[in-house]
Amino acid sequence: MLLTKLDKAVIQFDRALQTLVPKVAKAARPSPALQHPEALLEPTEQRHAIGLMRINHTGEVCAQALYAGQATTAKLEMVRAEMEHAADEEVDHLVWCEERLYELGSRPSVLNPLFYGASFCIGAGAGMISDKLSLGFVAATEDQVCLHLDKHMAALPEQDQRSRAILEQMHIDEAKHKQMALDSGGYEFPQPVMRVMTLVSKVMTHSTYRI
Ligand SMILES: [Fe+2]
Ligand SMILES: [Fe+2]
Repeated sequence: MLLTKLDKAVIQFDRALQTLVPKVAKAARPSPALQHPEALLEPTEQRHAIGLMRINHTGEVCAQALYAGQATTAKLEMVRAEMEHAADEEVDHLVWCEERLYELGSRPSVLNPLFYGASFCIGAGAGMISDKLSLGFVAATEDQVCLHLDKHMAALPEQDQRSRAILEQMHIDEAKHKQMALDSGGYEFPQPVMRVMTLVSKVMTHSTYRI
């Protein structure tokens, strides 16, 4: 079926709403958090866990937007099925992080629409230039996410096994997404580009930890 520009715009709008409106998206897999009982956290530990999980949630908002942006401009026929599978797994991550934030007595970042918009533009821009660049962005982004996840797993309060279980499964999935993007012909970005991406991600982590 050939989609018109209007169909595509409606699909994109629906996807943005699913990502940004709380409790709308549905996960395909049960949350790994369910394997563990709720831990007793001191107020400072709880605030820290909330900050970290809010960063991870916004990271997943960015992932949704990046994939959505690419889908509007890139051809990606060869790898569309794999990309769609990865995007489905990102929905699980988004929902798990959001559920965990509510369990901890907080909510997602108010800055999410801003980060969605910016990531969508990056995805669409990269897709317009070439699929190799677009896939390179996926690989580089997943790489950054894995680094964050490593740090966050170490930084979470020891007893917060529910949050840690979510991050562990996300790490497994993100590493797979990175490899898929590289195997599909994505550029491996040079170090200076990766350093710029690290700087950009710092803006996101510093702001969403608090709001
Ligand atoms: Fe993810
Ligand atoms: Fe991913």
